[in-house]
Amino acid sequence: MPRTTIVAGNWKMNLDRARARELAAAVAARRGEAAGVELVLCPPAVYLETVGATLAGAKSDVGLGAQNMLDKPSGAFTGEVAPPMLVDVGCRYVILGHSERRTLFGETDAAVNAKAKAALAAGLVPIVCVGETLAEREAGKTAAVVTTQVQDSLAGLSPTDLEKVVVAYEPVWAIGTGKVATPEQAQEVHALIRGLLAHLASPAVAAQVRIQYGGSVKPDNAASLAAQPDIDGALVGGASLKADDFLGIAKAFA
Ligand code: PGA
Repeated sequence: MPRTTIVAGNWKMNLDRARARELAAAVAARRGEAAGVELVLCPPAVYLETVGATLAGAKSDVGLGAQNMLDKPSGAFTGEVAPPMLVDVGCRYVILGHSERRTLFGETDAAVNAKAKAALAAGLVPIVCVGETLAEREAGKTAAVVTTQVQDSLAGLSPTDLEKVVVAYEPVWAIGTGKVATPEQAQEVHALIRGLLAHLASPAVAAQVRIQYGGSVKPDNAASLAAQPDIDGALVGGASLKADDFLGIAKAFA
């Protein structure tokens, strides 16, 4: 079966409630422009319920995702959000190990791994982010860095679970910088990741896993990325805050 492409909007810590509702309504209304593409919106946690209600009200199949969670079901973890809570407000996806979580909040591969397992146990689809920094790329360490991140973040997952995971390759130097990886640079790493997944599980499982590219994806560069055989969608930051841009990108993956 061919892979269903998946385009997710990572709104990060942006918008307010009214604008979140407005953007979700616009994406839901225009969803048909990217028919066949799985679409996901990841608003800030406090707006998950609002966005979920807007999507449900529009009878939309656009999915709801969180930007982070803790790997515990409940308890004394001030300021954190549990996987069942995300499910409770209608989430089907959760972004894990985004580079901002890794660099600003010290998330390790081990933490991402625990979160991925907890997400899957709760019935959520984890979108697991990996990617090298500029210094690592310039030092020729891209493959080594991404290999460690993929292997350690996804360690111990059963083949059935692995098949459900979405991997997002996001070179850190391309995030929010306007510097997109060339389609060839991205494809090279995506192919590497698919090879790693084949080792972790099997070639059949690896062939099912969606691998998104992220980092300065815009409507005008999405088509050339989408044309690559191992790029199955996009994780979009800045451009996901405008319905026109988000749908323009999604359309490229249809
Ligand atoms: P960007 O962010 O599209 O603004 O570069 C991507 C991301 O951080 O997921």
